[in-house]
Amino acid sequence: MAAAIFSLFIFFISLFIIQTTSSSSSSLPGLQILHAERQIDLSSHIVRVYLTLKVENIEDAPASKVLLAFTPTQFDHLSLVKAAITFGKKKKKSYVPLEVSPTELPNSPNETKYYAISLVKPLAKGETTTLEILYILTHSLEPFPVEISQSESQLVYYHDSAVILSPYHIKQQATIVQIPSNKVESFTQVEPAQRSGSDLRYGPYEERSPYSNSPIVIHFENNHPFAVVEELEREIEISHWGTVQVTEHYKLANAGAKHKGVFSRVEYQSKPTASGVSSFKHLLAELPPRVHSVYYRDDIGNISSSRLRTNSKKSELLIEPRYPLFGGWKATFVIGYAVPLQDFLFESAAGARYLNFSFGCPFADTVVDKLTVKVVLPEGSKDPSVKVSFPVEQSLKTKYSYLDIVGRTVVVLEKKNVAPEHNVPFQVHYKFNPIFMLAEPLMLVSAFFLFFVTSLVYLHIDLSLRK
Ligand SMILES: *[C@@H]1O[C@H](CO)[C@@H](O)[C@H](O)[C@H]1NC(C)=O
Ligand SMILES: *[C@@H]1O[C@H](CO)[C@@H](O)[C@H](O)[C@H]1NC(C)=O
Ligand SMILES: *[C@@H]1O[C@H](CO)[C@@H](O)[C@H](O)[C@H]1NC(C)=O
Repeated sequence: MAAAIFSLFIFFISLFIIQTTSSSSSSLPGLQILHAERQIDLSSHIVRVYLTLKVENIEDAPASKVLLAFTPTQFDHLSLVKAAITFGKKKKKSYVPLEVSPTELPNSPNETKYYAISLVKPLAKGETTTLEILYILTHSLEPFPVEISQSESQLVYYHDSAVILSPYHIKQQATIVQIPSNKVESFTQVEPAQRSGSDLRYGPYEERSPYSNSPIVIHFENNHPFAVVEELEREIEISHWGTVQVTEHYKLANAGAKHKGVFSRVEYQSKPTASGVSSFKHLLAELPPRVHSVYYRDDIGNISSSRLRTNSKKSELLIEPRYPLFGGWKATFVIGYAVPLQDFLFESAAGARYLNFSFGCPFADTVVDKLTVKVVLPEGSKDPSVKVSFPVEQSLKTKYSYLDIVGRTVVVLEKKNVAPEHNVPFQVHYKFNPIFMLAEPLMLVSAFFLFFVTSLVYLHIDLSLRK
């Protein structure tokens, strides 16, 4: 009996909790969007969305944050979110970048996820501001059919909403979707919606309440090679003796529609415009100028079919895997190169130095699912710190190579969903005592000395035996 009463009690308590939580789920008061323009660029395999929002504060309390809403699926595939505030018009327009970070709201409807844009100056009641936002999604085009033969084109699906997902009321909005060609199989109509060439235009839509949603599916041709590096490990080793040595391990895949049937090299080579249009046979990496000792090898051995072109601004490395990469196919390879130390290592104060190097993948137009950047500091370096303009996971390790006494500090940076936009400079600062410069030569000298002494002793013994 007591147990029954107790469970009834629990039941009412939980009912009460459900009641209160569901009633407190609400739209976000404070702001409204007067005008929103969205441009969705689907011309490659990386989805880039440009948003322009004219935001107004309609409440008494000043507003210092503007929220962007994403579905859980979009959130998982988000690679980058950038925002800037604009001043002036047309040619006199200027941009001030704003801080953006993921944030959570209690009881968000349909598990909506958020990013918060922090305004430099809070918005007072009745004030408006214009924000420009860019966000990038990876793995958001779904090949359909999932398998194609060598002579077929690649078709993909893109899912989104005709109206912008937002926690705010939007008075007026429009969306333009850019498709790589005018080959559109189908697209969801949400009046008014129309197609002109390779553009689909949705809207204008007026007075949409918070969290309005109007699902759309677009099915279109996209023969862009879906170059995805599933795993990339870059090791950047600093030697104060004059070079920065870079070694990069790639696990590359074509994430497009899977290749069906047998591969015909004859067909591939005789009809390059109609055969394997979504495959890739070479890749172009942009390396720093003054690069030297470049090599490229795969599991079998060194590959000579790579070309290096250098000029004063950059070097271009064109590599050709042993076979063209069709949908679903993979290639594993390593490239290595060295660059002069003075181009990348600088002194910031007495005894303090920093490396300034590029973060992302040097291959054009490539997504990296998991990137690890390891910066191997010279022996005797202390207090490393990293400056990078987006969130990364950081840790430290120690690496021993020959002639090392105390080992080298390795700064390990990890990031998922990396886009070409992440290929920007980052810095690793550290302290270094020049006395350590002597450590290696001293080790060498003592090694030679030891060798000399041992041989001497040996010879001596040997001689004494012969006597
Ligand atoms: C939640 O998702 C469902 C199904 O997609 C949709 O019908 C509903 O309107 C959404 N609710 C909100 C508040 O967005
Ligand atoms: C490949 O080239 C690298 C660097 O030039 C060299 O160290 C390595 O021994 C070569 N490997 C093979 C299998 O030829
Ligand atoms: C890092 O290098 C880039 C050019 O590669 C340069 O524009 C930037 O100012 C450098 N940053 C620092 C902190 O030295």
